[in-house]
Amino acid sequence: MKYQVIRNEKYDYAGQSYNSLYPNLHKYPATMLPQIGVDILKEFKATKGVLLDPYCGSGSSFASGLEYGMTEMRGFDINPLAILISKVKFTKVNIKDLQETKLTIRNNIFEFLKKESNLERLEFPNVTNMDFWFSKNVSANLAIIRYFVYSIENKNIRNFFLLPFSETVRDCSYTRNNEFKLFKMKQEDVLLFNPNVIGIYFKKLEETITLYENFYYPKITNNVYVEYSKFKPKQNSFDVVLTSPPYGDSRTTVAYGQFSTLSNEWLGIDYARKIDGMLMGGAKNKENLKTGIIADYISQISKANEKRALEVSAFYNDLENSIKQVADSIKQGGKSVYVVGNRTVKNIQLPTDQFIAEKFEENGFRHLITYKRLLSNKSMPSRNSPTNESGKTANTMLFEYIVVCEKCFGKGN
Ligand SMILES: C[S@@+](CC[C@H](N)C(=O)[O-])C[C@H]1O[C@@H](n2cnc3c(N)ncnc32)[C@H](O)[C@@H]1O
Repeated sequence: MKYQVIRNEKYDYAGQSYNSLYPNLHKYPATMLPQIGVDILKEFKATKGVLLDPYCGSGSSFASGLEYGMTEMRGFDINPLAILISKVKFTKVNIKDLQETKLTIRNNIFEFLKKESNLERLEFPNVTNMDFWFSKNVSANLAIIRYFVYSIENKNIRNFFLLPFSETVRDCSYTRNNEFKLFKMKQEDVLLFNPNVIGIYFKKLEETITLYENFYYPKITNNVYVEYSKFKPKQNSFDVVLTSPPYGDSRTTVAYGQFSTLSNEWLGIDYARKIDGMLMGGAKNKENLKTGIIADYISQISKANEKRALEVSAFYNDLENSIKQVADSIKQGGKSVYVVGNRTVKNIQLPTDQFIAEKFEENGFRHLITYKRLLSNKSMPSRNSPTNESGKTANTMLFEYIVVCEKCFGKGN
């Protein structure tokens, strides 16, 4: 059957932002609009059972699932910062406990700062090139906050306090805050940069508590389970998969690992610098993909640049293997919803939406529809830096695709 794409303006959500439903508690690149998930689950009458997101990032699909009424939700992501954000958003903690812990920590920090000799006992995590990214004063203050946050016994409350800590790390570092990749600010800006670390932390903490209390706390039911790992397949276990996978490898598209490096290092993750290489398309391919819809596109890229063709092949190879596992893990009659962008490489736009539909069909699914929506609301750059050179950008994607498939009966159990 012919592959069908419909331009559907309903899914543009003109004038709406992420914040209107579930505001972000922490920045994250390329977040999905939760409204998309809610409306698509309604439109296709998905079973209100178990939802899977194999690339959950900061957890927008769980927000959709919560609104829609899923009873259980499971997510995976290799990036520990993503998992921390998702956990905090969807774990119920007592607001009074948050407020009391905030006061205790503030008093403890105040007392600690009274005695200058205390600074000598500070412990620092392994942060690569610490002095390049942080002034001595900033790193000392971050170490103080970190010490008191890690001394919180209740794990869920500790995780909550780590979220504004991670944002403070980023905001008080010498990184340019409007870039996803790690670029240092200009020398003249470094000289003028003297942030009030502890003030920034408590302001962010207060904001995070307020947003959590107003938007998340009233709705969450502790039915979200996430882990920092690659997706672990489980045959015929999920009613719905709702996800926005990466649309290319991290090195040349959105660098999730780089975005999170400093936070992850301050959170004690020793492989923080290796994460981009571990993500989809991060490993090398020795051969180009030669079958299916993508083969012709890769062959065209290979005429312009063989190395780029191999990199692109590595990404689609990983995506194909992942879809096989995901397909196997969905129950008969279950739905898969992938929200994805089609990137351009060497001036060739790659049909990732169609590739996804094709691979699901090869694995026992029927393609129901692909909707094309305007991307203006996604909190990611519609421009990125494909050359990896700071400041140099190119228009990559204006539309995004919602690919909906259904697992046929008689496939799997
Ligand atoms: C487009 S983002 C998801 C954003 C998410 N929907 C949100 O709203 O925050 C894609 C995510 O896939 C993760 N990722 C990439 N390759 C992965 C892999 N092989 N296994 C698990 N997660 C992966 C990245 O770390 C990133 O968080």
